[in-house]
Amino acid sequence: AAEIETLRSTHIAEYPDFPTPGVLFRDITPLLRDANALRRIIRYWTTLLPEGIEYIVGTEARGFVLGAPLAYELGAGFIPVRKAGKLPGRPAGLKYELEYGSAEIQIPENSLPAGARTLVLDDLLATGGTAAATVELTRRFDVELLGASFLIELEGLGGRDLLPDVPLTTVWSIPD
Ligand code: PRP
Ligand code: MG
Repeated sequence: AAEIETLRSTHIAEYPDFPTPGVLFRDITPLLRDANALRRIIRYWTTLLPEGIEYIVGTEARGFVLGAPLAYELGAGFIPVRKAGKLPGRPAGLKYELEYGSAEIQIPENSLPAGARTLVLDDLLATGGTAAATVELTRRFDVELLGASFLIELEGLGGRDLLPDVPLTTVWSIPD
């Protein structure tokens, strides 16, 4: 676990004032490009997750990059939640508020069977808007929501308050 903690300082790059002034952007590129670090994080992350996951629901874009290898490692399926306008058929959609403005995401039609043991996953829990919207879309399929999991939680932004009834797991929870 000390080794995992070290990876946060060595493999998550920090960029002040991106994308807007006052925001400290966390970039996962150094983690993704290091084969050994990526494998270690994915394997460690699986040990934190609830048992019996059948589907991981990951949110575009960074939730895809981490969610797919986790699903592969667990022997689960992967469902992509996409930014609006990308999915064919009749996807279910939801608009939600960001710090500035709003966004819309969609989940593929017929993607989750009722009762499926499902985990929502993303790289980052910040204000929680993205995760709460993904959870709400996922629940429209009457799944068994086992929880939500994040590589990084920025505790100071209070994102978990938007997910009061969802068991959360995080690889790294950091104060701001
Ligand atoms: C980032 C991050 C999370 C979300 C967290 O995604 O990857 O999905 O913001 O913020 P929140 O908790 O305040 O909603 P972003 O929409 O920037 O785009 P990307 O994943 O496509 O890079
Ligand atoms: Mg994202």
